[in-house]
Amino acid sequence: MPIQRVASKWKKTIILKHRESLRPYIPDTRKYSLEHLKEMLELYGTVYVKPDLGTYGIGVMSAEYWTDELDPSLIRQYKLRYGIESELFPTLEELHASISAKIGQKLNLIQQGIDMLTYRRRKFDLRALVQLTPRRTWETTGFIGRLAAPQKIITNHHGGGSIMTIEDLLGPYLTPKEFASLYKEMKNVGVHTAATLARKYRNLKEIGLDIAIDQGFKIWILEVNTLPALFPFKTLRNKDIYKKIRRYAVAYGRLKA
Ligand SMILES: Nc1ncnc2c1ncn2[C@@H]1O[C@H](COP(=O)(O)OP(=O)(O)O)[C@@H](O)[C@H]1O
Ligand SMILES: [Mg+2]
Repeated sequence: MPIQRVASKWKKTIILKHRESLRPYIPDTRKYSLEHLKEMLELYGTVYVKPDLGTYGIGVMSAEYWTDELDPSLIRQYKLRYGIESELFPTLEELHASISAKIGQKLNLIQQGIDMLTYRRRKFDLRALVQLTPRRTWETTGFIGRLAAPQKIITNHHGGGSIMTIEDLLGPYLTPKEFASLYKEMKNVGVHTAATLARKYRNLKEIGLDIAIDQGFKIWILEVNTLPALFPFKTLRNKDIYKKIRRYAVAYGRLKA
């Protein structure tokens, strides 16, 4: 049996939302529409729009309210960002028209924007790898930090982001005790997420969680990847981490011994 992969972000979100213990970690996520754009901008101020079947950060946009402090006559505008570009729209309808033209007929999701922590003014999020152990339990085996390129709204490596350790990224914000407690929480969330998805997808063996930490140090699951990259974990100073990742991946058949 091949290792189970699940491409649809929407399907995975629905399953995770049904698990009570995970619900607080899932940002409000809906199918993209003008109504949801209006409502969610009012609720959250910033929203992300992304393809249901996307990877590498391709097609990810953000939209937010924008006020020009130099020209108060422009009371409320909308700013759409994608890549390093941005555009301003005077009305919600024009913002929606531009988003619709970019996404075409494909299903896109709209998600509550998370105000991520930054490192030297660049946004960062974390990737947690969760794997099936040879004892058939779930274990969060590694973390890496992903730092967005300057001005970018996505942290993906393919979008110019760079890899750092979570200790270096979170060190400036947290005491060792606070770090340890957040670390434990993220490991637990990883295990619960994998176990929840595995109840439906029996041949799931590994997942990668994109975890954002907001300014209040609350953790959020931005998406769950079922074909997570393993190579970034090779760069960690602690070589035992990748050794274990590799050992588990060999056991369930992703890598050859
Ligand atoms: N709701 C959100 N709030 C803040 N940033 C987000 C949000 N959703 C996505 N991003 C940013 O965009 C990146 C790519 O989005 P993601 O949902 O992981 O799609 P992909 O499958 O293309 O990686 C994330 O790693 C994160 O940096
Ligand atoms: Mg991602």
